[in-house]
Amino acid sequence: GAPEPVSPTGRHTGIDPPLDAQGGEHLTTAHGSRRGDTDHSLKAGRRGPVLLQDHHFREKISHFDHERIPERVVHARGAGAHGVFRSYGTASRISSAAVFQKDVETPVFVRFSTVLGSRGSADLARDTRGFATKFYTSEGTWDLVGNNIPVFFVQDAIKFPDVVHAAKPHPDREIPQAQSAHDTFWDFVSLHTEAQHHTIWNMSDRGIPRSYRTMEGFGVHTFRLVDDAGRSVLVKFHWKPKLGVHSVLWEEAQIAMGMDPDVHRRDLADAIEAGAHPQWELGVQVFEDNEEQMFEGIDLLDPTKIVPEELAPVEPVGLMTLDRNPSNYFAETEQVAFNPNNLVRGIDVTNDPLLQGRLFSYLDTQLSRLGGPNWTQLPINRPHAPVNDMLRDGMHQTAVHTGVAPYHPNTLDGNNPFPADEPARPFIDHPAPVAESVKERGNPVTFEDHYSQPRLFWLSMSDVEKEHIAQAYTFELGKCWEQSVKERQLQALANIDEKLCAVVAQGLGLPAPKPTVKHGRIKPSPALSQVGGQWPLD
Ligand code: HEM
Repeated sequence: GAPEPVSPTGRHTGIDPPLDAQGGEHLTTAHGSRRGDTDHSLKAGRRGPVLLQDHHFREKISHFDHERIPERVVHARGAGAHGVFRSYGTASRISSAAVFQKDVETPVFVRFSTVLGSRGSADLARDTRGFATKFYTSEGTWDLVGNNIPVFFVQDAIKFPDVVHAAKPHPDREIPQAQSAHDTFWDFVSLHTEAQHHTIWNMSDRGIPRSYRTMEGFGVHTFRLVDDAGRSVLVKFHWKPKLGVHSVLWEEAQIAMGMDPDVHRRDLADAIEAGAHPQWELGVQVFEDNEEQMFEGIDLLDPTKIVPEELAPVEPVGLMTLDRNPSNYFAETEQVAFNPNNLVRGIDVTNDPLLQGRLFSYLDTQLSRLGGPNWTQLPINRPHAPVNDMLRDGMHQTAVHTGVAPYHPNTLDGNNPFPADEPARPFIDHPAPVAESVKERGNPVTFEDHYSQPRLFWLSMSDVEKEHIAQAYTFELGKCWEQSVKERQLQALANIDEKLCAVVAQGLGLPAPKPTVKHGRIKPSPALSQVGGQWPLD
């Protein structure tokens, strides 16, 4: 077994068991000195000034002064829960990942979030929702950091700061806080029309979910699964809620936000406490991993495109049950650090340029949010697999490393990460070909179609869903000051659907422009509708 942690003097350090700073019988300072009075500061006489000498006073106030850590730069508001993922074994034929082997149960922690609001904002703002899952697998941690909308605003991560700057509150007055009802948002999405697909999902009922328990989740990007023989397939991940997909009406959202800004957070916690444990089935759409990485004319590396389920069915691979609330919001929901880099053997990335940028961003942001490089030691982030990472020291180091040779291999500590009798199953970087070797900044031509999929979404909606979408565009655009921004967005709507554009234009009191793109015949995808795809073929 692993050697006991020892101090430089050779004594047991006592830090191996989890630190419980509130476990002692008596009130103490942080260094364990007992205190009898925590209600009065030390003064020069009963009416005198407070003395600098009062360590207990200064420690208490100073620690309190530093209680907050920076909120996440996006997805600041969230709610988390623990649970378990049980694999059906159906994905074991396409991936060697331990988490996909038959009947394997893997502990998970999920954090649901809104994207734009601050930590104290209301749950039911019209927004995308984060759906991030940490799988503590026996072969290391796998994070599936997804959203409740299957596409994203931009195709290249270099535009992420731009879309977030445009969607966060205006820099002058910080108004509006968390809704898409402002000029910069509509300025951005009408200038960068690749964002129109994500935006129509936001304007649909999906933007105001009834509950976290009734949301779908999507990995968005195409990922790669690899089996033990090194064979690979491309997949898109889907979470399907057992309770079905449900939203609220806009008026309901306004009332709920006013009466209970914590409505989603409370719903999740109450349901779990009452034993109504929410469940999601994880499924994959599977595609051949060929050189083109296209399917039925859809570029699988373009994160603004879906593949309709009617063309590639979602195959269930396991069931997730959330059955335990966090016991400490800060330690779990706030300090959890998801990262699309957290991959395990059998699961790998593709060249989607949005995903590639995320592989840099999360680790980088967590270095400042969680104060240095040692946040993997925080209980919620610790892997449930043995670790031998050769990383040392740094801010907030809590491990007491043993040995003298922090490098691998070495002969001084006898440090072999894989005991000889255990099969070594290292992570395999899948040897995917790199198609082009010319250094350039442009997009593939297949990324240039920005309208056929928003149109597909629109055509797949029922009448009542269409009405809600048109009302949402009219309300949100109605809040814009700049006429030119409204006009440019109306042009984008005309390119999606003339009827939609006409209704919104009338609501705004503006003329409806003519489309500038031509669509071929588009077959609606009933699976996109929350009411079962009753919209007839166009
Ligand atoms: C946080 C999803 C794109 C940067 C998050 C979270 C989710 C998420 C769910 C919250 C995680 C949590 O609950 O702690 C997505 C999805 C994307 C996407 C599905 C596209 C498909 C991007 C891109 C970037 C980015 C392109 C940057 C280039 C961040 C950052 C955070 C974050 C900096 C805060 C992380 C933290 O402080 O721990 N994202 N995101 N995201 N995302 Fe993304």
